[in-house]
Amino acid sequence: MPGQDPTTVPDDLDPDDIRVNPSSEPGLGDLIERRFSRRALLRGAGALGAGVAAALATGPLRAVAASAPGAGQAPAEPIGPGSDPSRFAFTEIAHGVDEHHHVAPGYRAEVLIRWGDAVLPGAPDFDPERQSAAAQLGQFGYNNDFIGYISLPLGSGNPEHGLLCVNHEYTNSDLMFPGLADADDPRGAIRRSRVDAEMAAHGGSIIEIVKHDGRWRVVPGSPFARRVSALETAMRLSGPASGHPRLRTREDPSGRRVIGTLNNCAGGITPWGTYLMAEENIQLYFSGSLDDHPERENYRRFGMPDPRYAWSRYHRRFDLNAEPNEANRFGWIVEVDPFDPKAPPVKRTALGRFKHEGAECVVNKDGRLVIYSGDDQVFEYLYKFVTDGRVTPLPEARMDPTMDSYAGRIDAAGRVHFRPQRIEQWIAAARAANRDLLDQGTLYVAKLAHDGGLTWLPLVHGRGPLTQANGFASQADVLIDARTAATALGATPLDRPEDVEPNPVTGKVYVCLTNNKLRGTGGNPRTDAANPRPQNLWGQVLEITPSDGDHAADSARWDILVRAGDPAAPGVAAQWNPATSENGWFACPDNCALDPAGRLWIATDQGRGWSKTSGGADGIWALETEGPGRGTGRMFFRVPVGAEMCGPRFTPDGRSLFVAVQHPAADGTEAFTGFGRKSSFERPATRWPDFQDGMPPRPSVVVITKEDGGEIGS
Ligand code: FEO
Ligand code: CA
Ligand code: CA
Ligand code: CA
Repeated sequence: MPGQDPTTVPDDLDPDDIRVNPSSEPGLGDLIERRFSRRALLRGAGALGAGVAAALATGPLRAVAASAPGAGQAPAEPIGPGSDPSRFAFTEIAHGVDEHHHVAPGYRAEVLIRWGDAVLPGAPDFDPERQSAAAQLGQFGYNNDFIGYISLPLGSGNPEHGLLCVNHEYTNSDLMFPGLADADDPRGAIRRSRVDAEMAAHGGSIIEIVKHDGRWRVVPGSPFARRVSALETAMRLSGPASGHPRLRTREDPSGRRVIGTLNNCAGGITPWGTYLMAEENIQLYFSGSLDDHPERENYRRFGMPDPRYAWSRYHRRFDLNAEPNEANRFGWIVEVDPFDPKAPPVKRTALGRFKHEGAECVVNKDGRLVIYSGDDQVFEYLYKFVTDGRVTPLPEARMDPTMDSYAGRIDAAGRVHFRPQRIEQWIAAARAANRDLLDQGTLYVAKLAHDGGLTWLPLVHGRGPLTQANGFASQADVLIDARTAATALGATPLDRPEDVEPNPVTGKVYVCLTNNKLRGTGGNPRTDAANPRPQNLWGQVLEITPSDGDHAADSARWDILVRAGDPAAPGVAAQWNPATSENGWFACPDNCALDPAGRLWIATDQGRGWSKTSGGADGIWALETEGPGRGTGRMFFRVPVGAEMCGPRFTPDGRSLFVAVQHPAADGTEAFTGFGRKSSFERPATRWPDFQDGMPPRPSVVVITKEDGGEIGS
């Protein structure tokens, strides 16, 4: 891939790329400099300041990478290109961009479900020319992002039958509907029926899936099938902020009930089989003025107003002036019970209100649940939530000798085998015991020190600066204004924290910091010798090691696993294991997944700037975290042009990998050679995955399996 000029100021700022955090705390770049500058000197990587930058920029970069600043656990012995120190055994594919998806040789990548496919019984066939909210409420939504897999029956570990819980983050109006691309004012032109269809296409889907003869299919008519939407799903608000006056509206004077969920990005699955949806870029839906607004500082800190949708024209609750508190009812983690499709989802306010990227969980060694969550915007923070109570584990149904007619298994005759009644009773009791576990606990924010230490600072009302005198009258205020509270505590501004995944095998935690185009520009926090990129267009993967393997502990250590970008491109100063091939590096890590062996897989989102950051499409890369191969990447899957890679999720046997191809044809198609313009419904850069005239590109979940049935990456 060609290199890029990092001094070019990008003109394509996404909402995530706008700085709203006023904190003057040292950023990660400063910390890297302070932490690693001495090591760099000792290893002869060059003098500090411009000298280090020059050494990184002009040397055979991969050869110096092992001694570069930031290489916290560099390999003991240099490893040359062509050697194979990683645990991943597949043949990698090449960087590139075209209308199709690509997977490593020996693997199948098949579309499982597309936008518009039926989820609920009776849903109409997808007709892109005749979309409606009513149809969409029964169909798979737009822009699939998070994917969770829950074995059926719950607790069985069954890798071939389960529920897939999928978020629908947002909609691309001009790719979704005909006739909008040429409108002078698309937001002014959109009709109510289409706004309602957009709202119905947001949220999430729960589908039942089964694998037969090596092939996955959706089970039609499943009793678990559900659509959660922004349009009409009634939800509860629970926890410390529930009922607070700042959450009350005309439609809900109680402050305890809300319709819908917005911008569900990534999420998590709890050990008791519920589905967590993270509300991220909620500012896109609200219009109005903040002049004399009672929530002015709060909403400014959220980047509001920044409407990208016309919803407030037809639904007044999205007008910040007509309904001043509505935007406080979004930005939470939502818990959905897939085993009770009628149960209202619950917004768990104890986990704080910010632009939650995700909510991946780990059961700590003391039995408490720990949920990690990034706040995805430039110079925002990394959080974790620790429950007060312990998780009541599900019975180990998998080990029960009566399980030979393995519950939930569908036999050749199509009959479903159920478990003995008593196991169902134990499961029900465990689920009930965990039902409101997420309502009580402590939210923490991360402060990183230059010596590699990390301190988790509690966001608790009355502690430190979180007092009435500083504008926090209660724990509800601390949670509603979590960003402001975290700044008051001195948390460390990071380069857009996206997905955060605890590794259940090693106990380490991986944080994808996707990029920060503003680093060192204007009045923003500066660049430094060890992070010599005037704008960090490529991101990095942070590794956190909790003290004594205790995820609830107040302290941890941090390190950099890789600094993304092309290691051969002048000026990028990427950092990889030298064994990484010309296709093994990536840019802009976003989502990630751990396979059952504890190996890390990274999904990328370069956004509209892909032609500058890598020159190729997003995809999935295996990334070795251990041993001499640490920091080696390998390219496994590639999305079609304009798409983003989301949702990687393995089945418990590691033999199936579900991935979400989000917004095909959308991003940066002006740079797609031979196409060279913005995509529209009528003229998209790709009609993936159907490739039929008149059929728009459709965000879809793809399932990847190995042709020989083996484990992915074996
Ligand atoms: Fe929805 Fe931060 O990606
Ligand atoms: Ca996304
Ligand atoms: Ca993301
Ligand atoms: Ca992203």
